[in-house]
Amino acid sequence: MPTIYLNGEFMPLAEARVPVMDRGFLFGDGVYEVIPVYSRRPFRLDEHLGRLQRSLDGIRLANPLRGDAWTALIAQIIAANEGEDQQIYLQVTRGADGKRNHAFPKEIQPTVFVMSEPLLPPPAAQRAQGIAAISAADNRWHRCDIKATSLLANCLLRQRAIDAGCAETLLLRDGFLTEGAASNIFVVKNDVILAPPKNHLMLPGVTYDVILELAARHGLPHQARDVLEEEVRTADELWLTSSTKEVLPIVRLDDKPVGGGRPGPLYAQMLAWYQDYKRAVMRSHVDA
Ligand code: PDD
Repeated sequence: MPTIYLNGEFMPLAEARVPVMDRGFLFGDGVYEVIPVYSRRPFRLDEHLGRLQRSLDGIRLANPLRGDAWTALIAQIIAANEGEDQQIYLQVTRGADGKRNHAFPKEIQPTVFVMSEPLLPPPAAQRAQGIAAISAADNRWHRCDIKATSLLANCLLRQRAIDAGCAETLLLRDGFLTEGAASNIFVVKNDVILAPPKNHLMLPGVTYDVILELAARHGLPHQARDVLEEEVRTADELWLTSSTKEVLPIVRLDDKPVGGGRPGPLYAQMLAWYQDYKRAVMRSHVDA
């Protein structure tokens, strides 16, 4: 039974309860993070906590914990749960009030929830053969840079992919690529990696940054700029990135092959760099 943290206490997951008047439940009024843990160490923790702070600022909610308190809490949850590799889910909502009212209540305590789930690498077949995706109009709000728990649009968009036998939905807004329903998307064209620029229309992914850093470190041409739908449809390669999926090749889009319909050479290269980087920063301490 996983051990979770809720509002100052550690307890078995099955015992955790939040009031029905919690604004996270009523309004989706909260923010969250998903942090991968390798060899019991959180990956890019500072970056995840920095994004959490920006999300909290975005919804005008004071951070209930200081940076080092988050670090200590996450370390405790990792230690209390099984598995060398875990994914930490943390959520902060505006808390529970006595009545339902859209306007912010005064003087309520935010709800803080942290749990751990096993982190499994994507199936080998997905890396070797790639995944299929569909595209759809990005019908979300204009603050997609906030990692908000109100994810109904993302859930509906992801489910469309599942219903079509695909793994992800690529989102297009006004003729440009934004991201995936729960991932960032990269386009490879003529040996250049193209990434939609960080703005209010997409979540600034922690994995997205790692990919661009690795491209820079290894001298692979890359540009963060507006990416046209046409460039997506004529891409040589498409990649999906997220904390739980790392980097995966998309080989079919809307039932048409992407490039040669197989994971491309730059994908293989980037996956190898990503795994080397992870090993170097995460695994090397084992025994320390
Ligand atoms: N989602 N864009 C969206 C809409 C996402 O939900 C995610 C991640 C990403 C990738 O961000 P990162 O590389 O920091 O994980 C981009 C997480 C994993 C989730 O909701 O489960």
